[in-house]
Amino acid sequence: MERVERLKTGVPGLDEIMGGGIPRGFFVAVVGEPGTGKTVFGLHFAWQGVREGDRVIYVTTEESRESILRQAAMMGMPLARSVDEGKAVVIDALMRSRGDEWSLEELTVEELVNKVVEAKRKLGYGRARLVVDSMSAFWLDKPAMARKYSYIVKRVLYRWDITALLISQYSITTGEAFGWGLEHVADGVIRFGRTVVGGELKRYVIVEKMRQTRHDLRVYAVEIESGVGMRIAGPTEARIEDLRLGGAGRRWAWPEGGERL
Ligand SMILES: Nc1ncnc2c1ncn2[C@@H]1O[C@H](COP(=O)(O)OP(=O)(O)OP(=O)(O)O)[C@@H](O)[C@H]1O
Ligand SMILES: [Mg+2]
Repeated sequence: MERVERLKTGVPGLDEIMGGGIPRGFFVAVVGEPGTGKTVFGLHFAWQGVREGDRVIYVTTEESRESILRQAAMMGMPLARSVDEGKAVVIDALMRSRGDEWSLEELTVEELVNKVVEAKRKLGYGRARLVVDSMSAFWLDKPAMARKYSYIVKRVLYRWDITALLISQYSITTGEAFGWGLEHVADGVIRFGRTVVGGELKRYVIVEKMRQTRHDLRVYAVEIESGVGMRIAGPTEARIEDLRLGGAGRRWAWPEGGERL
C-alpha cells in the first residue's frame, strides 16, 4: 500500500486519532459553533507548519490580523515573529486597510485565491499550509454558493502544494452551517462542539471524515489553556451517532451525561 504523507496538526493527541495527521494536499473542513476552538486549532496547525519549515498562510475574516497574532501569542505561539521573518503571511480580510499588501479589498473567492497564490509565490517553493478562518464569510449572503466556492478554492489551490484547513461556522440555534456543500467537497471534516456538563462548558472534537484514513470515530474532550493552547484530553462515551441524532434537549453520554447547548 502506498504510504500517505501526513502533516501533524500541532495539537497533542489529535494526530493519533486520525492515523498520524492530515494527508498532504488535503482540504479539510473545520466546523463548529462559536467559541468551540476552531481558531485556536487553526493557529496550532499554522504554528506547527512554521516549526516544520512549511510556508504558512493564514486568512482571517472574523478578527483582525492583530487580534489573531495576539491570540497566538497568548497560546505560546509567536507567529508575529514568523511573519516578520517571512515564513508566514497573515491575510487580513476584516480590516481591509488600503495600502496593506496582505489584506483583501473585496470579500470574494476570486480575490481570496489570488491573494493566497500571491502569498505562496512570495513565501517560496515547498510544502505549504493554509488556514481560511472562516470560509463562511465568503458566502454569508449567498449560502447556495458554498459548494461551488469551496470547489473553486480546492481546484485552484490544489496545484500549489497546499494542505488547507477551511473553517466553517455553525449556528448556535440550529447547529448547522450557514451554507451547504463544503463538507462534501472537503477531503476531511473535523467537527468541534460544546456541551454543558454539571453547569460547566465542555468542548469536544470528532473526526467525521478523513479520506484515505482509518480514523477514530469517538468523540474526544478538548481542553484549551492559556500559554499552551489546545490539547485532546481523551475519548468521551458519546459516539458519532449521538451527534447525528442531535435535537433539542437530548442528553448524551459525556462522561456522566450532558446536554447539548
Ligand atoms: N488565553 C486563553 N486561555 C484560556 N482559554 C482561552 C484563551 N483564549 C481563548 N480561550 C478559549 O478559547 C475560546 C475561543 O476559541 P476560538 O476562538 O478558537 O473559537 P472559534 O471556534 O474560533 O469561535 P468563532 O466561531 O466565534 O470564531 C474562548 O471562548 C475561550 O474559552
Ligand atoms: Mg474563530
